[in-house]
Amino acid sequence: MTLSIQGITKSYGENRALCSFTAELTPGIYALLGPNGAGKSTLMNILTDNLKADCGEVLCDGENILDMGERYREKLGFMPQYPGLYPNFTVERFMWYMAALKGLSKAKAAEDIPNILRSVELDDVPKRRIGALSGGMKQRLGLAQAVLGDPELLILDEPTAGLDPKQRIAVRNFISRIALDKIVLIATHVVSDVEFIAKDIIMLKKGVIVDNVPPAALTAKIEGKVWHLPAAQEEVAMLQARHRVTAIARDERSGGVVLRVLSETCPAAGALAVPPSLEDYYLYVFGEETSFSTG
Ligand SMILES: Nc1ncnc2c1ncn2[C@@H]1O[C@H](COP(=O)(O)OP(=O)(O)O)[C@@H](O)[C@H]1O
Ligand SMILES: [Mg+2]
Repeated sequence: MTLSIQGITKSYGENRALCSFTAELTPGIYALLGPNGAGKSTLMNILTDNLKADCGEVLCDGENILDMGERYREKLGFMPQYPGLYPNFTVERFMWYMAALKGLSKAKAAEDIPNILRSVELDDVPKRRIGALSGGMKQRLGLAQAVLGDPELLILDEPTAGLDPKQRIAVRNFISRIALDKIVLIATHVVSDVEFIAKDIIMLKKGVIVDNVPPAALTAKIEGKVWHLPAAQEEVAMLQARHRVTAIARDERSGGVVLRVLSETCPAAGALAVPPSLEDYYLYVFGEETSFSTG
């Protein structure tokens, strides 16, 4: 399958949320990476025909998705950012309901539902009311319904929001396991969700694509611009005012700290260039709109 997204533009009143978004997706995992307000959900709502674009079109194997209607929806699994789950349904009943909406046969649903619930670790609560699930459980149920019917195109809007680190890893592994032969588009502002599983990273800044390349190509762009700078505790505030500090680690040996600094040139004597991470690149692009963690 090829999903061809051509010049999608969308404004809300005066506010332009997406500006001529163009990309060609083939099977594999794509990350749509950008801070809150970048336009990720707007794009996903358009790709799933839940929102009309102002202009541009989306073609699935050459055919406009708006003309395909039901035939497109059959290929599609969508986990919205704020899924509307029915609070009075049980987990199992909800999955059966979604399976029916997607046109799955009873036999197929009976086979798939237990497997999927096991994969997202909800198999121990099939009879629990959705209203009584924790945030993380609801999130995983949103993912579970999206993968019903083994869709060729899987669109996941912030699939790991509200999950603890262990659940994040489980969800990440689950996604990469089922991604073979599918187009999977994952919106996130969490670099570690997609750093090692995405074939391409689409960086979105204020509705505009700033990059659409493999992760390694992004870190290569800032090779030689990430530094470890040893410092004394008392110097931290002064160095933070002077440099873009992306992390501070205690240095057990010296009793001081080591700052991770983004700098075009060597920031100070004693600084050592280190291999960049994708998170460094994210901060490089979005630094001015991100509050740096100094923890
Ligand atoms: N329904 C809406 N009405 C008005 N403005 C909206 C609406 N949805 C999103 N926006 C605006 O569009 C921009 C992109 O939002 P969104 O697509 O939700 O970004 P993201 O998912 O990356 O956080 C933001 O400036 C947001 O405030
Ligand atoms: Mg969003």
